[in-house]
Amino acid sequence: MSDTLPDGARTSPATARNRQPILEVLQPRLPAGARVLEVASGAGEHAVFLAEALPGMPWQPSDRDDEALASIAAWRTATGLANLAPPLRLDAADLASWPEGPFEAVVCINMIHISPWAACEGLVAGAGRVMTPGGRLFLYGPFLEADVETAPSNLAFDQSLKARDPAWGLRDLAAVTALAGAHGLALAERIGMPANNLIVMFEKA
Ligand SMILES: C[S@@+](CC[C@H](N)C(=O)[O-])C[C@H]1O[C@@H](n2cnc3c(N)ncnc32)[C@H](O)[C@@H]1O
Repeated sequence: MSDTLPDGARTSPATARNRQPILEVLQPRLPAGARVLEVASGAGEHAVFLAEALPGMPWQPSDRDDEALASIAAWRTATGLANLAPPLRLDAADLASWPEGPFEAVVCINMIHISPWAACEGLVAGAGRVMTPGGRLFLYGPFLEADVETAPSNLAFDQSLKARDPAWGLRDLAAVTALAGAHGLALAERIGMPANNLIVMFEKA
């Protein structure tokens, strides 16, 4: 990626730090030619980085926010990646806004703690609906776990999220796992990531 931002494109320093570790987790766990739906793509920097690194995989970015959609479109135009689809307006909580699919994977980075629980409910229900059998849902972000001490930085982050919106906050992995189970998605892997984040992978039966 060039140092100059394309018109309308946004950038996030966190993406520069986490995109390579995320790629290293996704790459060996995505089947060849996997069709991937990314929910809450935000600025779109993960979408362009991952689509470029995984050229055989059609990548569908999405978000519900106008500025995010404009930024993703700007990055897409600037990079001209053949496997990166135009961004889709998708509100995770609104199942009517989800595409038909099918997809072999759904990826969602840093959304479920920065949105109400209904967005997580919609994400899991939508992923359960649009994925092929064996499809994989990947969630990246910080989580709360009963048997794992929460890092002080994550506790502080949780408090700051709740101060911004009481409906936001770090999610309990056990609650997300129970919700996923109700939609036919079983927790298959929990992968520790830098800066006290996780990737959790759920598999559709
Ligand atoms: C913290 S940003 C993360 C963006 C990107 N995935 C990243 O990690 O850089 C959260 C994103 O979630 C999106 N979002 C929040 N609620 C959503 C929902 N219900 N459906 C889809 N996107 C949502 C916001 O518009 C925003 O782009």
